[in-house]
Amino acid sequence: MTPELKYDVLVIGSGAAGLTLALHLAAHLRVAVLSKGQLSEGSTYWAQGGVAGVLDDTDTVDAHVQDTLDAGGGLCHEAAVRHIVGHSREAIGWLIDQGVPFTRERGEDGNETDDFHLTREGGHSHRRIIHAADATGAAIFTTLLRRAQAHGNIELLENRVAVDLITSEKINRPGNRCLGAYILNSQTGRVETFNARFTVLATGGASKVYLYSSNPDAASGDGIAMAWRAGCRVANMEFNQFHPTCLYHPQAKSFLVTEALRGEGAFLKLPDGSRFMPRFDKRAELAPRDIVARAIDHEMKRLGVDCVYLDISHKPAEFIRSHFPTVHDRCLEFGIDITREPIPVVPAAHYTCGGVMVDHAGRTDRDNLYAIGEASFTGLHGANRMASNSLLECIVYGRSAAQDILDNLASTRMPESLPPWDESQVTDSDEDVIISHNWDELRRFMWDYVGIVRTTKRLQRAKHRVDMLLAEIHEFYSNYRVSRDLLELRNLAVVADLIIRSAIERRESRGLHYTLDYPSLLPEALDTILQPPSVDD
Ligand code: FAD
Ligand code: SIN
Repeated sequence: MTPELKYDVLVIGSGAAGLTLALHLAAHLRVAVLSKGQLSEGSTYWAQGGVAGVLDDTDTVDAHVQDTLDAGGGLCHEAAVRHIVGHSREAIGWLIDQGVPFTRERGEDGNETDDFHLTREGGHSHRRIIHAADATGAAIFTTLLRRAQAHGNIELLENRVAVDLITSEKINRPGNRCLGAYILNSQTGRVETFNARFTVLATGGASKVYLYSSNPDAASGDGIAMAWRAGCRVANMEFNQFHPTCLYHPQAKSFLVTEALRGEGAFLKLPDGSRFMPRFDKRAELAPRDIVARAIDHEMKRLGVDCVYLDISHKPAEFIRSHFPTVHDRCLEFGIDITREPIPVVPAAHYTCGGVMVDHAGRTDRDNLYAIGEASFTGLHGANRMASNSLLECIVYGRSAAQDILDNLASTRMPESLPPWDESQVTDSDEDVIISHNWDELRRFMWDYVGIVRTTKRLQRAKHRVDMLLAEIHEFYSNYRVSRDLLELRNLAVVADLIIRSAIERRESRGLHYTLDYPSLLPEALDTILQPPSVDD
């Protein structure tokens, strides 16, 4: 039998949110930070544009709050927006103190000054995005990881896939508490029991539920599905954000072309070279993402074309190469020189605006269980996230949740020993084709039926299919030993179901949810809150 592992805090996820929280706790507590593959597996590593914050003297918290509320289509929770934006300067200051090498302004002599370069993205009325060229996520991740590796109280564990949370309710103990989690060690194939005073879900988003996505493979919504199974409410899952510009090339898997290109003057063009965004919104290329993605989808369908084009070639080549080295080099690998020609682009699933419902400190409906980062629903993003607000939310909530854990230490004991994982009823699978087939089927019907433009009929078709898949996957899960692929598929199906149900419930078009059957706004903006069945159901 595998021995039980005990930690003060179990952090499931090693992205910006998980690492920030761990670093704020490590002086006081023993923390385990898990990643289901390599530590760099999450979206954080791939973030390009930057982190939004009120850094310029001519900018204000009120302006950043107002832009966020405007982009969010009436559904942002203003208190959460104020909490996050109000802490933006402090959060970014903390990143700078950790050593993140943000890009600096250059003086007339070409040398770096003390000031940071701030760029713009859609929906922002000011230049307020601090960045490390166009590889901001890699700079943040490697800096925070280096700090965590140097800390004796933080244990970083790779290839550990969380299967499910252990709650007092599930193991018939009194209370409403999370006690830890069952974790598959994918190197040994054994499921280990992690016992923890506090458990934190920092598992990222769920955009892999769609066939085309800017996200890495890890984005299968595991934390959202685990929290749901553990009895936590989730909210606003219908608002999945499609990023307008991912590289369109048969060999380019999930490569994002940062919105900062448009912030620095790039134009979106049709195959004939004409611009189209001014016809859709007065902010043109810098309208919020829902508007730009829908406009591209509309033009592609209208003209029957496979992509549109993003053109920055009118800017000096040196400016392009120094501001966008990642995009420049990656496109060149595919034979596209962005200093001379436009980039073929299409929208792709990018960000999960909904998630596990939490309060201002990241607390979920279960005691001692927190959710932070993209897995959570704080109320910041409303019906449409504004660019670069996500990393900011990870850093602010990583800190808020850590503070709450420290405030509650004295009253929280280590749970008593937990029951080990029971494998007595399962065998090794001899039909893994079911897993790969269902992965493909799920992601395709989500793309076709629950995408940028929806209809009630398409949503009902998707619901019918996901119900069948859920039943099939449940049977498979009950009979065979778990693997990473099976666990991800199980979670993707749960999340797909939550997205479809939320989309069916919303009888209006708002922000990222656009349906031809209800094209207008309802007078009152309401969250879609789904209540899980009780554990005994
Ligand atoms: P992630 O960074 O996604 O980390 C999730 C972690 O959870 C990983 O370590 C993963 O292994 C682990 N995990 C998941 N499931 C399990 C499990 N079952 N068991 C164990 N571990 C698990 N936002 C911005 O604000 N600015 C940007 O410029 C920006 N650019 C982006 C560019 C791209 C290409 C993408 C994909 C996203 C971008 N975003 C950006 C969004 C932003 O990067 C993410 O929302 C943010 O990084 C999420 O951080 P996180 O810590 O919540 O999760
Ligand atoms: C980008 O760089 O375009 C992504 C920014 C974001 O998702 O916030």
